Amino acid sequence: MSVGILTSGGDAPGMNAAVRAAFRSLKMRAPDCELMLFRDGFRGLARRLDSASDRSVDRKDVRDIIHRGGTFLGTGRVPELYMPPADAPDLAERLAAREAFLRVAAVNLFQTRVESLIVIGGDGSFRGARAIAAAYRETFPGRPFRVIGLPGTIDNDLHGTEFSIGYDTALNNVVDAIRKLRDTIESHRRAIILEVMGNTSGWLALTSAIAGGAAAVAIPEVEETWDQDELIRRLIAGVRRDYRYFIIVVAEGVLKRAGADWSQRLARRIETAAPIQEILGHAMEARINSVGHVARGGSPSALDNTLAGLLGAAAADVAQLGRLAHGEPIAGDVMVGTRGTRVIVTPLDEVIEHSPRLVERESDLFQLSNKLMLSAGQAF
Ligand code: F6P
Repeated sequence: MSVGILTSGGDAPGMNAAVRAAFRSLKMRAPDCELMLFRDGFRGLARRLDSASDRSVDRKDVRDIIHRGGTFLGTGRVPELYMPPADAPDLAERLAAREAFLRVAAVNLFQTRVESLIVIGGDGSFRGARAIAAAYRETFPGRPFRVIGLPGTIDNDLHGTEFSIGYDTALNNVVDAIRKLRDTIESHRRAIILEVMGNTSGWLALTSAIAGGAAAVAIPEVEETWDQDELIRRLIAGVRRDYRYFIIVVAEGVLKRAGADWSQRLARRIETAAPIQEILGHAMEARINSVGHVARGGSPSALDNTLAGLLGAAAADVAQLGRLAHGEPIAGDVMVGTRGTRVIVTPLDEVIEHSPRLVERESDLFQLSNKLMLSAGQAF
């Protein structure tokens, strides 16, 4: 039996530790079980197999990688895999290209005798994996095959797990950026608007703003957090309370929904707010920074590597035993995740249907941001 593995979508620190854990667990149980590497995400599955790069993992491959950021397997997004919109002018060609991609992937999986494909990524990657699984089953009916998803995204927005691999490292990276910015903006008595990744969900922005002690946070899920009138009212209240500087964290998803120039507009409003000028005797300067892809880089945190180890080993259990080490038999394509300290398994369809998992306005975490950050009527 052979197990395939690939990393897909945005890289996330800890992906390497997950591959290593899957390899070690598989080999520990069955030394002749092969773990096939597919490089550069789904692209590696759909190109001509080449014995140099598409081969089973050797212990040397997974040595000295646990501390490294990124993914040593390579990753990528594959636009050919997305279902084109029904009104696309080149619909027929795109559908044919997608079909061809899926067929080659299915044949390659068959030729490498892969019965379980471990895909480490986010919901877009799981959609791609589901399409490949359907093509495989159609082409090779009756052959055993399953997809085992591992949550790997700094966005932490997958249904079926409390935490995704890479999120903790990214959170620490953003908090580190906030702390560094604090030094410079305190010196200048400025406001800083810090743009943070998270295209549909605000987990990274919200938690980094809480942990970094920001004055305000804007997330895509809660529209009133982007309201610039309210933000200006809060900053005025802060200046009255003698705050020296302000950190405003904004999730990428807000820029998509409220306009790419959201930060520029807010910066201009801060610099021209008459009440702030009256209180200070001069305008408050505002600067815009973006953490960008830096959030995804660097050595994985201890917590991410621990999570990656737990999930990589659980994926090996599902591949070899058809269940978690102490669980019931599991059918079909699944994702392994965690709830508290327990590993849980969720059908892949359910993960896809309920992802992205959004921040809820009623959640304790979002409510906490209201308690800890600036408010317009602040009296202390
Ligand atoms: O990994 C997910 C994510 O971090 C999103 O928040 C962001 O929109 C996207 O990746 C950007 O990734 P890239 O520019 O590498 O495609």
